[in-house]
Amino acid sequence: MIITCKDSSFRLRYYFYEEILKELYGLIIMAKRDEVLDRKKLVYQLYKILNITQDDTDNTEFNTFFDSKILNKIDFKRRKSKGQFVTPSILANFMAKWVLLNQKPKKILDPAIGTGILIKEILKSIKKENGQNKFRIYGFDRDNLMILITKINLFENKGHLDLINEDFFENNLEEKFDIIIANPPYIKSNKIERLSLYHQVVSNSVGVDLDKFTGLYALFLVYCVTLLKKRGKLAFIIPSEFLNANYGVKVKDILLKNIRIEALIYFDTKDFVFNDVMSSCLIVLIDNSDFSPEHNIKFIKTTTINNLDDIFNVVTDNSYIKDGKLKQNIANLIYSEYKVKQLNPAKKWISLFSNKRKNYGELEHFIPLGFYYKVIRGIATGANNFFTLSESEINRWKIPERYLLPIITKARDISPPIFTWHDYNQLKNDDKKVYLLSIEEEIGNASVKRYLDTGIEQEIDKRYLTRNRRIWYFMEHREVAPVLIKVFNRGKIQFILNDTACLNLTSFHGIYPNDKRFMRFNKALISFFLSEYGEDTVRLQLRHYGGGLKKLEPSDVEKILIPDFTEFSNADLTRLDQCFEQYTELSREGSQERTLKFIDEINHIFGNLFEHYSFFEETM
Ligand SMILES: C[S@@+](CC[C@H](N)C(=O)[O-])C[C@H]1O[C@@H](n2cnc3c(N)ncnc32)[C@H](O)[C@@H]1O
Repeated sequence: MIITCKDSSFRLRYYFYEEILKELYGLIIMAKRDEVLDRKKLVYQLYKILNITQDDTDNTEFNTFFDSKILNKIDFKRRKSKGQFVTPSILANFMAKWVLLNQKPKKILDPAIGTGILIKEILKSIKKENGQNKFRIYGFDRDNLMILITKINLFENKGHLDLINEDFFENNLEEKFDIIIANPPYIKSNKIERLSLYHQVVSNSVGVDLDKFTGLYALFLVYCVTLLKKRGKLAFIIPSEFLNANYGVKVKDILLKNIRIEALIYFDTKDFVFNDVMSSCLIVLIDNSDFSPEHNIKFIKTTTINNLDDIFNVVTDNSYIKDGKLKQNIANLIYSEYKVKQLNPAKKWISLFSNKRKNYGELEHFIPLGFYYKVIRGIATGANNFFTLSESEINRWKIPERYLLPIITKARDISPPIFTWHDYNQLKNDDKKVYLLSIEEEIGNASVKRYLDTGIEQEIDKRYLTRNRRIWYFMEHREVAPVLIKVFNRGKIQFILNDTACLNLTSFHGIYPNDKRFMRFNKALISFFLSEYGEDTVRLQLRHYGGGLKKLEPSDVEKILIPDFTEFSNADLTRLDQCFEQYTELSREGSQERTLKFIDEINHIFGNLFEHYSFFEETM
């Protein structure tokens, strides 16, 4: 069956939410008063308001769970401002299964219920585990629409449900819960409407004032910890940001002191994304039983969500673990454990998910990148569109070659980790802007003059950068950078070997060896950043921004720790060069799977070298 929507997509994106909310209001009131007793009737009315036509009202579509289908129709910005993103159901199922294990709960809480997916999974498992024991579920959401959708989604279980359309922090809850499960909203502290009230509530409940930059999800977590009954269980899916961020120090401290953290599961994967909101997420599993400083907290990192059964076993069954390690390796999963007394909330915890137990900051064989390289921002033209030209433009204006230099203009024109002449020619053939108008003397050439006159007509000579030059069109001078780094990065930081004589604009910083001899290390350097160790040192250096866009300053890059390549054997350096070349060749061919072999080998080469230096610090 096809569900079609009559509205134009433009109208839907920008006006949909306000409009339907107005219309939905009546329906919500009815649903609240329980005047609409039939789920089908509710669904039908909702479809009508949403302007969705349905060919066959008896179709099974009526029985499906509403989440992304409806949420997708709501303007993304609006959803983002309310923190509305749906938990993938296999993660919801994992969390529900864990909280219900060995529990006969009477009171269950979801403080930010959204479309109800977590509670749906609870209800599925509770029937298996609990028989028909009496239990009540309390679900909060500030948003009317979410409450309505949950009401429809969980219609058959409405006897067990209290859906409360209120701000969770304003509810002055006095009771405690056997189970708390949540995917709380991710809204940055500067975007939260009632921030001071939330801080007040949390501060009253834990007796600590949290940092004013604390993300809303962390306020939910800390508050909920205080609402958990003795021996109760809590599972939250949240961004991993607090593990490394400054505001997280107090959050980690409160958790360590007050509650037994069973496991932290860090998803370093693109298997699912919360619509760009967070790139790396974390499941926090908490059990409010007694614990001692000797209690081991499980740190699990996975690069896929397809091994949740294995993760469940590792979390719940200690026979999978021996001497702090997995008895048998599990693909895509790294396991470490730390005693409560070993953990220091003031330190960054993301690196603890690595099984190498290393602390690069204190390893003498690592040096800041700035020791061997200078990092310099790209050329700022003052008017990229004017000072860079395509092949057809230089032909049209008859600009002589001697005034032109090859240039890389846009980050999206490049696919890391290498840029070759072949790539450059491809861009040229596509008529992209690949020439920089590079003039360092007053001009006599008539055709260039004509082109410059058009710049004056457009008042390009009056812009801040151009008017501060001796002659407005004189371009700043730069050497070609053999290695480039993207200035804006989402997720992994991208380094590129520049195998051409192209200059670069400000979308890249250039990385220049301080000494010609260090050119020898360029491929090894980029290989290092392809390895898991490079990812770790980048992460250690740069504050963890979750899914945000990271803007790197040259000084940030110079601080990143790299191995001291001068200590490497020739054989290792040559092998790293070969791995890099084979990796780039295969990734160009699109054989992603075959490239993994070389990443493994690169990891292996660095792994062997670092094992020698690795050590275990008493306090992490
Ligand atoms: C990330 S969604 C969670 C949805 C659902 N629990 C899930 O797992 O898919 C967060 C929900 O919290 C709601 N919310 C935001 N601030 C809230 C507050 N202060 N009190 C209660 N609910 C809130 C939003 O409307 C949104 O539906």
